[in-house]
Amino acid sequence: GLVNTKEMFRKANEKGYSIPAFNFANLEQLKAILNACHEANSDVILQISESARNYIGKETLPLMVKGAILDLRAKRSEIGVALNLDHGKDYDLIKDCLDYGFSSVMIDASHEEFYKNIEKTKEVVELAKKYNASVEGELGILSGIEDEISSEENKFTNPKEVVEFVQKTGVDSLAIAIGTAHGAHKFKPGEDPKLRLDILENIREVLGEFPIVLHGSSSVPGEYIEKFRDNGGMIKDAIGIPDLELKKASKSIVTKINVDTDGRLVFTSTLLEYMKNNPKEMDLKKYLGVPKKAMETYYSEKIKKVFK
Ligand code: G3H
Ligand code: 13P
Ligand code: ZN
Ligand code: NA
Repeated sequence: GLVNTKEMFRKANEKGYSIPAFNFANLEQLKAILNACHEANSDVILQISESARNYIGKETLPLMVKGAILDLRAKRSEIGVALNLDHGKDYDLIKDCLDYGFSSVMIDASHEEFYKNIEKTKEVVELAKKYNASVEGELGILSGIEDEISSEENKFTNPKEVVEFVQKTGVDSLAIAIGTAHGAHKFKPGEDPKLRLDILENIREVLGEFPIVLHGSSSVPGEYIEKFRDNGGMIKDAIGIPDLELKKASKSIVTKINVDTDGRLVFTSTLLEYMKNNPKEMDLKKYLGVPKKAMETYYSEKIKKVFK
């Protein structure tokens, strides 16, 4: 079933593309992601937050993923599939996920002081070796809300720190802050929605071909924001990262791009619309099948625009 991220990152950096890391929170989303990646013949990192893991159930999750991969293999799909803990907050949670078969973990100690971040990350790298799992660390702070952590400020990654961090910790990949943000409000209205590709370039100069990760990379498509609003949803000033910026980052050393908000937005807006137009429907298979298909279409298009 699952693979770690090492080989998929090596290929991606060699050829100048990146691997989609899509968060999921239920079976519909998991299947939509796998179907889209199968159709596009793209490797994929299935991503689960601590709260999504608790929502699905820690016993259910690995069995559900295993079953979904078996359904995929029955279609003769050979894509690589990794299961990553997103924003792992501490050693105990990470160890528990590794014990349950995760092939990749993130340790997010980016809010800690530099040397404390190194110490905590290195501990996880040592642990993950025993499981042949890969480890993602983070340097810099994204604004927006991620699980328990929320931050007002956006602290760009300092290129002067990356080499020491990577060498001392031994991480397989590094998440950086170059202007992305979690959630649906990544820029203020009127701001130019651009990434700091100059910082990425400075990082590449000092670090060379090393797998870099972008969190907070949803594009927050306007058509789905409208669909959400038109069908009773409430949201304002939603702004995402343009696909073209992500594509440019992909051609450099960005190797993994995280998307969560877009999946939620597509699912929820499509569900609201369907229920408004079909108020008598109460067959779960029918009214969940429609947003599931919409997510699959969104992921397919995202892969074509950004990841290939
Ligand atoms: O960046 C992390 C996720 O977007 C947080 O998702 O609400 O499922 O914990 P969650
Ligand atoms: P978005 O909120 O932009 O989808 O970011 C997701 C993410 O970084 C998950 O770790
Ligand atoms: Zn994130
Ligand atoms: Na790349």
